[in-house]
Amino acid sequence: MDKVMWAGRFEKELDEKTNDFNSSIRVDGRMIEYDVQGSIAHATMLGEVGVLTKEESDKIVAGLSDILADVKSGALSIDPKAEDVHMFVEAVLTDRLGDLGKKLHTARSRNDQVALDVRLYLRAETERVVEDIRGLLHTIVEIAERSVDVIMPGHTHLQRAQPITLAHHLVAYGEMFSRDIGRFLDAKKRMNESPLGSCALAGTTHPIDRFRTADLLGFDGPCRNSLDGVSDRDFCVELAAACALCMTHLSRFAEEIVLWTSREFGYAELDDAYSTGSSIMPQKKNSDIAELVRGKTGRVNGNLVALLTVLKGLPLAYNKDMQEDKESIFDSMDTLKSCLEIFTPMLASTKFFPERMEEACKDGFLNATDCADYLVKKGVPFRTAYKITGRIVAYCIAKDKTMEEMSLEEYKEFCDLFDDGIYDAVNIKNCVQRRRSYGGPARGETLRAIESLKAYL
Ligand code: ARG
Repeated sequence: MDKVMWAGRFEKELDEKTNDFNSSIRVDGRMIEYDVQGSIAHATMLGEVGVLTKEESDKIVAGLSDILADVKSGALSIDPKAEDVHMFVEAVLTDRLGDLGKKLHTARSRNDQVALDVRLYLRAETERVVEDIRGLLHTIVEIAERSVDVIMPGHTHLQRAQPITLAHHLVAYGEMFSRDIGRFLDAKKRMNESPLGSCALAGTTHPIDRFRTADLLGFDGPCRNSLDGVSDRDFCVELAAACALCMTHLSRFAEEIVLWTSREFGYAELDDAYSTGSSIMPQKKNSDIAELVRGKTGRVNGNLVALLTVLKGLPLAYNKDMQEDKESIFDSMDTLKSCLEIFTPMLASTKFFPERMEEACKDGFLNATDCADYLVKKGVPFRTAYKITGRIVAYCIAKDKTMEEMSLEEYKEFCDLFDDGIYDAVNIKNCVQRRRSYGGPARGETLRAIESLKAYL
């Protein structure tokens, strides 16, 4: 390959280390398919508007198609010394077609080219990520459907609070992940405008048809301002934010799996395929995968901040700083995908222990609110009922008994409105089933929530 393409005004060759520092091929090489697609659309349009002859355009398009086929078959490998993927493709084309290859870059710049490639690449990646989140949502719904009657303690401050069901808990994550899908689809909608034809920053004097290339590449239309076209990286930030939030949801879920599979909780056991042992302690079965998902969230959150920080001081239009965008957003999308791809089967293969969860509900006065509510239904103001119940709890702690074990005489010591009905009120299963308020854990409510997630899917 010749000296670099922009070498016109330069007398000396680029220092090797400078070239290496400046080069982005290791990061942007993965966009080659989209770079070629963009060039095919550009050359096709140039042929249609007469900037190229029909014959020239056809030859360039055929040459580009060959390059893509060769990359896919492995006959052509990306030169790691190339400055970036755009230069590489153009250089190969020129190598193969001679002077005709040099016509491709008419009415175009690498600035609109890179903005285009990143959009095309991320548009496809977004679809993949959404599919992966959908897969997780399916698994959540499946487990929830068989767990509507699995009673477990719900926590606040990591202390046992009120009884819920495993299904109700899982549906909470289902809601989060369905919003994540919404965020990705929303970002995709906004990024679906073509920057191609913005050229370096100020458009071109050639009679190009930006609507045509936008159409050929499946965009809703061209972006409306050429400076914005080459400078906009909002879509990277939006996607990075969607990744960070989705990872944060995964991380919270992962943390619960770490807790649930601990001896202290004992609510679940990971499948051997998704857990690891210790090099010294033979008894260990660690939740490394869940912990790694939790840990990788740090990097993905960092990528969002990195992107915002790169952009915050940049004057319009293109600045080389923007080359840094890809490493961050690619890493976020890659990391999220790899986490989803392992988290979903890990969750699907996790064994839950309903008896252990129900057992845990017996200890910790999870029915105390229900005792207070029982008195409220007898006409006692809530604050008073709350106080009475607080005293009962203190009494139970002192006597080492549960609310179910108290005799009616003992109850009456605290308030003479108590009757036999209190046992029904503090029965843990009833505590769950009576929480029929919209979005609550009662069977019917949970089934409705599951149905709505299924409808969403
Ligand atoms: N590799 C560059 C990037 O990723 C392509 C655009 C280069 N443009 C320029 N004017 N140097 O941003």
